[in-house]
Formats: sequence, structure tokens, C-alpha cells
Amino acid sequence: MSIIGIIGSGAIGTAFATTLARAGIAATISNSRGPDSLKEQVHALGSSIKAGTREQAARADIVLVAVNWGKLPAALAGLPDWDNRIIIDANNPIEAPLFKPVDLKGRVSSEVFADLMPGARVVKAFNHLRAEILASDPKADGGRRVLFYSGNDNAAKAEVAALIDRIGFVGIDLGSLAVGGKLAQFPGGPLPNQNLVKVG
Ligand SMILES: NC(=O)c1ccc[n+]([C@@H]2O[C@H](COP(=O)([O-])OP(=O)(O)OC[C@H]3O[C@@H](n4cnc5c(N)ncnc54)[C@H](OP(=O)(O)O)[C@@H]3O)[C@@H](O)[C@H]2O)c1
Repeated sequence: MSIIGIIGSGAIGTAFATTLARAGIAATISNSRGPDSLKEQVHALGSSIKAGTREQAARADIVLVAVNWGKLPAALAGLPDWDNRIIIDANNPIEAPLFKPVDLKGRVSSEVFADLMPGARVVKAFNHLRAEILASDPKADGGRRVLFYSGNDNAAKAEVAALIDRIGFVGIDLGSLAVGGKLAQFPGGPLPNQNLVKVG
């Protein structure tokens, strides 16, 4: 079983940790302020989730990054080589409070994100639903809630697909970052906020 790290303990990082905790999967969650600031949060999440430093979280086999777009360069700076590990990009190129889309010069946000993490195998996932919905029970309306994923490395996608299945969602492969990343990207794609349930 892969070790999981989380960089960003806000709405999405915590929602992801909640889905892992529900399935009893161990993970280390981190933020910019250090593990002491996360004591109450990890206590509420349950015993499988530990607080760590950004560096500790970044050492995991699979690392989910959920940080405000403009803070990504700082959050990812100075970390050890990614060395072919799997990074889940849960980010969207837009920021509160203005919600002005970032000018990506025509590129897909996950490709811009991937440039910040040379040597990582980037899979885009966990970014298309609002955090409260992501955190809620994936068993809904007689079926299982859908999560989309995309990426350029099929083996990395298979591992993320297995994780999505293990935490109780139905994963749908959207293809490459250029194609699938764009479909699920907010703003710009048609899939964000589509809260879909697969029945049967
Ligand atoms: N909120 C949603 O419903 C939603 C839905 C889909 C996608 N997204 C995307 O997910 C990403 C995160 O959004 P969010 O709503 O979770 O944001 P958020 O609640 O503001 O949390 C952002 C997190 O990033 C951490 N962070 C900032 N700078 C850092 C650094 N240098 N090192 C380590 N951690 C750092 C913050 O830690 P500190 O507080 O310690 O600084 C905080 O835990 C964004 O790209 C957003 O577009 C959000």
C-alpha cells in the first residue's frame, strides 16, 4: 500500500484526508504553519491521519497538493526530487476573494503545475467538486459518486484509480492532462461541479 502525503490542509486537503480517514488509510497532512497548527484538525480526522511538515508529506509515494494557485511555487519550492513519484494535482487556477481566472497563456493548468514538479508523474484529480461534497459519503442516491482523473502516465493513473475505488468513489479516466485536465479544470472545463453518481 502506498504511503500518502498531503500538502495543503485547507478545504480540499482536509476533504481528501476525510475520505482517506473514512477508509482507514494512513496519510500525513501538512500546511505552511507546521504540524503544531494541525493538532486539533488531525485529532478530529481520526488516528490514520498524522500532521507533518511539508517535507515529510512530500516524501510519500503519492502526494496530493491542494494549495491556493498563487502560493504553489512557494509550497513546492526546495522539496526533495520527485523521482517519478505520483503527485495528484487537486488545484484550480483561480483564487478567492476575487475569483479572477489566472492567465495560463492558453495552457492547461495541470501542465503549468507539472512544470513546478520536474520528475513527478502528475495526475489531475479531486479538483472538480466543492470540498464539502468531496468530503461527504461517496455512497449517495443508490450509487457511488464519480471522481474524474487524467494524466500522461498510465501506471500512475492506475494507482490513483485504485485509491479512488478504495475510498468508495467511481473513477472515470478522462485521458491525458491536455485533454482530461482541460475537461475537469475550473474555470474552463465543462465538468467542474458536476456532482454525478453512478448507479449499478
Ligand atoms: N475549496 C474548494 O471547494 C475547491 C474545490 C476544487 C478545487 N479547489 C482547489 O484546491 C486548492 C486549494 O483550495 P482550498 O479551498 O483547499 O484552499 P484553502 O482552504 O485556502 O487552503 C489552502 C492550503 O494551502 C496551504 N498553503 C499555502 N501556502 C503553503 C505553503 N507555502 N506550504 C504548504 N502549504 C501551504 C495553506 O496552509 P496555511 O493555512 O498554513 O498557510 C492551506 O492549508 C486551490 O487550488 C483550489 O482552487 C478548491
